[in-house]
Amino acid sequence: MRFTRIVPALPLAAALVITEPEVFQNLEKSGRHLVDNAQSAFDNAQNVLDDAFSKVKDGAKDAYNKIHHAGYDVESWLEGSQFDDSVIDFEEDPHHPPHHGKPHHPPHDQKPNRTVYELINESKYTTKLAKLINEYDDIVQLLNGTKANYTVFAPTDEAFEKIPEHSHKPSKEFLKDILLYHVTDDFYPAGRVLHTYTIPTLYTPSKNLGHQQRLTVRVTLKGPAINFYSRLVAVNIFGTNGVVHGVDSILVPPPNVASIIDLLPGEFSTLELGLGKTGLFDKMNSTDYPHEGGTLFAPSNFAFQKLGPKANAFLFSKYGQKYLKALLMYHMVVDQTLYTDAFYDGRKDDDKTANGGPPYYHYDLPTVLSGKYLAVDVTRYGPFVSVRINGFSRVTVHDGVASDGVIQVVSDVLLPPKNAAGGEQVYWEGEEIEVEDLKERLEPYVENMEL
Ligand SMILES: *[C@@H]1O[C@H](CO)[C@@H](O)[C@H](O)[C@H]1NC(C)=O
Ligand SMILES: *[C@@H]1O[C@H](CO)[C@@H](O)[C@H](O)[C@H]1NC(C)=O
Ligand SMILES: *[C@@H]1O[C@H](CO)[C@@H](O)[C@H](O)[C@H]1NC(C)=O
Ligand SMILES: *[C@@H]1O[C@H](CO)[C@@H](O)[C@H](O)[C@H]1NC(C)=O
Ligand SMILES: *[C@@H]1O[C@H](CO)[C@@H](O)[C@H](O)[C@H]1NC(C)=O
Repeated sequence: MRFTRIVPALPLAAALVITEPEVFQNLEKSGRHLVDNAQSAFDNAQNVLDDAFSKVKDGAKDAYNKIHHAGYDVESWLEGSQFDDSVIDFEEDPHHPPHHGKPHHPPHDQKPNRTVYELINESKYTTKLAKLINEYDDIVQLLNGTKANYTVFAPTDEAFEKIPEHSHKPSKEFLKDILLYHVTDDFYPAGRVLHTYTIPTLYTPSKNLGHQQRLTVRVTLKGPAINFYSRLVAVNIFGTNGVVHGVDSILVPPPNVASIIDLLPGEFSTLELGLGKTGLFDKMNSTDYPHEGGTLFAPSNFAFQKLGPKANAFLFSKYGQKYLKALLMYHMVVDQTLYTDAFYDGRKDDDKTANGGPPYYHYDLPTVLSGKYLAVDVTRYGPFVSVRINGFSRVTVHDGVASDGVIQVVSDVLLPPKNAAGGEQVYWEGEEIEVEDLKERLEPYVENMEL
């Protein structure tokens, strides 16, 4: 296999210019003000992230270690992938000096003559992956076959070397799940990858998700990465039945929503405290209740702070506990999983509606708070996306994929509207809130609540 096109550590804009000229055409078409809005949304998100990142760094070394073993990189989850300036050149044999004078690229019009399986099996950069795949006849047949045009995110040998040596070998079944999590049965050349927020894989968890586990694509200031931590180091190695991209870390299927919240105290310790106090954490982390995916709109610690000290003191007091519970339930959606670019409704068979469609969606998602709905608007501006809840709160970190749903990090605690005189619904718009106002909004739901 020849990894002929290398993705260098490009800044965001450059990465998009080079791979996606049409993105900019779309931006022009949709108008200058949209670009400006998108850019400011992006900047805001970045500030929140930078803030969160430094907190995580200070306070969560242990969590970082834990999550690393789970294949999930905390810092990257919040910040985006860690790109450095080194570019791995797959053309060069790691053990021999490069041949100079030989053309690196085959001519563009040359048709691929090997399957994605053969590309991986023959490459000197993916020998460990090939060895693993060769242990599974069905995966060999799949990747060598023409049932679909596949996309494989192929961890390089260096990626395998990152696994700590003392870690015990996982079961054959688990390794198969991991392999399948690197493959999608749809054709995603690099341009499409970078224009995508999440990608479905051939791995489906055995319970509590109800659909294909997805990968998250993130184009950060330091370059593109999969699941926040695995950098794309080579792209567009085309085979007869699909395309291979090289990644620098193994993509491990993610843990459940509760575990991810627990692993990111720098961002979610207030949320976890609240979930713990109200018994909701144990419910979320329990494998006992059957469900098919879900969406957690997770307010960051900063979002709680914005409510002001009085509201927080009340919510986290004994007297406020019922209100806190109602409030947190208003952030949880069960059985419906909303990714930035896909929507799965576990209660319907034909449930995927948002894949690659028009640039604007509206969803009314039923929360576990007596069926109270959240109004969610997803708008795309070229490479940027805006997800707003109740017309106001923004999703700042998109698509934290989990084994039982997805986490969308929100910039504000979400509050149910209150009815003004005349029956109009009055949504909260982010100002510090009075305890009386908070109680009024939550009162209708706490009466019969058990704790
Ligand atoms: C595929 O094409 C290359 C030239 O690009 C050639 O060297 C190789 O022998 C071909 N392989 C097969 C299996 O035909
Ligand atoms: C995979 O590659 C090895 C050599 O790298 C070769 O011996 C083996 O036959 C190949 N397997 C298949 C199924 O093509
Ligand atoms: C893979 O497919 C090619 C034809 O596309 C075939 O020649 C080869 O024998 C197949 N290899 C395996 C291991 O099935
Ligand atoms: C794979 O892609 C080729 C070229 O676009 C197309 O002709 C073929 O039908 C595709 N195969 C499948 C199984 O979708
Ligand atoms: C979640 O549940 C698992 C087992 O079901 C347990 O090992 C883990 O400690 C729980 N997480 C927390 C943060 O309590």
